[in-house]
Amino acid sequence: MSRLAAYCCLAWLLLLRPGNVSGAITPGAVWLDNRGQQIQAHGGGILKVGDTFFWFGEDRTQGLDPNKRYVSCYASKDLEHWTFRDQVLKLSDPENFGPGWLIERPKVFYNAATKKYVLYAHVDDGTYKLARVGIAISDTVDGNYRYLKSFRPLGLESRDIGQFIDDDGTAYLIFESRPTKGFVIARLSPDYLNVEKQMSLVPAPLEGGAVVHYKGLYYVIGSHLTGWSPNPNVYATATSLEGPWTEFKNIAPPALKTYNSQSSTLLRIIGTKTTSVIFMADQWKPKELWDSRYLWMPLQIDGGQLLLPEPRPWTIDINTGEAKY
Ligand code: DGJ
Repeated sequence: MSRLAAYCCLAWLLLLRPGNVSGAITPGAVWLDNRGQQIQAHGGGILKVGDTFFWFGEDRTQGLDPNKRYVSCYASKDLEHWTFRDQVLKLSDPENFGPGWLIERPKVFYNAATKKYVLYAHVDDGTYKLARVGIAISDTVDGNYRYLKSFRPLGLESRDIGQFIDDDGTAYLIFESRPTKGFVIARLSPDYLNVEKQMSLVPAPLEGGAVVHYKGLYYVIGSHLTGWSPNPNVYATATSLEGPWTEFKNIAPPALKTYNSQSSTLLRIIGTKTTSVIFMADQWKPKELWDSRYLWMPLQIDGGQLLLPEPRPWTIDINTGEAKY
């Protein structure tokens, strides 16, 4: 092969390597923020304020103070380009949880009555035995958040948490509660500083719980309990948050283990032409959690059926709501 042909081959191979496609969201690729740093918002959630999306998640950057735990916040108007706002929570062990204590899956709600941003997260000791939610509050969306307390919602064990805000603005916490062999969807108190009413005990031992309300149906998604390892995530539907829920079905071909990802949030984008529902998931790398990737994909969803399509680069028009592969 001539030297020129060899260079052409190399250039072609470089073009084909998995990486971020400019102008698109690329599942599994390294996703950089405005500083050129890898986005650290694992197990995350989104809060929209005005026309800006705020993405909160676990910051697992290498070299951070090993005694502290961090939640980061990024802002975007198009879901593709993210500006780092701050490490909005930088916390030393607040209640003597002990070595290896953790903060996972942070989610932020805005309470219009108290004008406070309320951050919920799973807080625990290093062996996941405490099973509590922790709460921190802030006057502004991008912090700083002040840690308030931890508790077991409704007195139940709570590990992975998710967030759901219904069309009428009511805020719900989703939490995995192992002894009940299911996960709970529960309404927050008026000030959002407590969990006050169980709506449903979804009858399946699942974590990574997320809910979306789409065309009159509630869809719930969750993953099986396999630690950091991926598994076939499943969904069920109901016409009311109180159930009854249908049988669970796989969201993708089960052998593919949700394309090596685990559910975190279902994000609904209501546009002028259509509504898209985006599956936000983590591709965990347990030995290098800082390099865990994100799998975000628009779902095929309608009439009680839901499918996670094969991941590929995609774009969304935030105004019209149209997502394209
Ligand atoms: C699965 C959970 O979904 C993650 O958030 C994390 O807690 C891992 N388990 C730890 O094994």
